[in-house]
Amino acid sequence: MERLQKVIASSGVASRRKSEELIQEGRVSVNGQVVTELGVKVSNKDEIVVDGLRIENEQKVYFVINKPSGCISAVSDDLGRRVVLDYLREKGIRERVFPVGRLDYDTTGVLILTNDGEFSNLLTHPKNEVDKVYLVRCEGIVNSSDLMKLKKGVRLEEYTSAPAKVALLGVDKVNSSSQVRIIIHEGKYHQVKLMFEAIGHPVKKLRREQYAFLNVVGLKPGEFRPLKIHEIKQLYVLAKHKKDDANYHYRRF
Ligand code: URA
Repeated sequence: MERLQKVIASSGVASRRKSEELIQEGRVSVNGQVVTELGVKVSNKDEIVVDGLRIENEQKVYFVINKPSGCISAVSDDLGRRVVLDYLREKGIRERVFPVGRLDYDTTGVLILTNDGEFSNLLTHPKNEVDKVYLVRCEGIVNSSDLMKLKKGVRLEEYTSAPAKVALLGVDKVNSSSQVRIIIHEGKYHQVKLMFEAIGHPVKKLRREQYAFLNVVGLKPGEFRPLKIHEIKQLYVLAKHKKDDANYHYRRF
């Protein structure tokens, strides 16, 4: 049994505080009865409705996939293109998971998938500053002044990127390209590509090597594995949240 506000928050409908407000405002019912008191406990057999919409109260699951190139970080695609969820469906995972943040169609590497909305919101909230490590193959020969710009933060269309950690891993003079490792904690749309574009070295290939401490060592493109309980807890802790929350309806594999 779990507290009602926690279950609502966990479904991703609202934050914990907002879920409490929804209850107190009489906008939540459990099995057809409006509940306005905080602290009511529910199980995953109870029908919970918020503003007329039933929320899903299924067991929480957490995966990491080695996202291949040529698939969309989405649950479905109007144009019928391959989506990252297809890989889980094909292996019999039925829960309605979604990606935590996005990787571009052609970006490969670490992507977390879960049906825990609160966990996803915490990890992707800009104030929580979870580090992401990217391996970039870019056009041209990157020099120390380019690296310094990335380190300080570069002016993009609507904002300046936060200071990044960068390392030049190698240059290919024959093909005029460079390999750079960059660590950022922001997660804006096309962020790495925009940053490299801004310093005059467009990205040719992009791979996310790590999300916080998580990597996909041992997983081939398209392969995934469930996160271990200590990994889920550690991610919660990194996202500055209470670690006990990770025990909530966690389905073990
Ligand atoms: N930055 C990008 O530009 N693309 C990604 O897929 C991830 C980060």
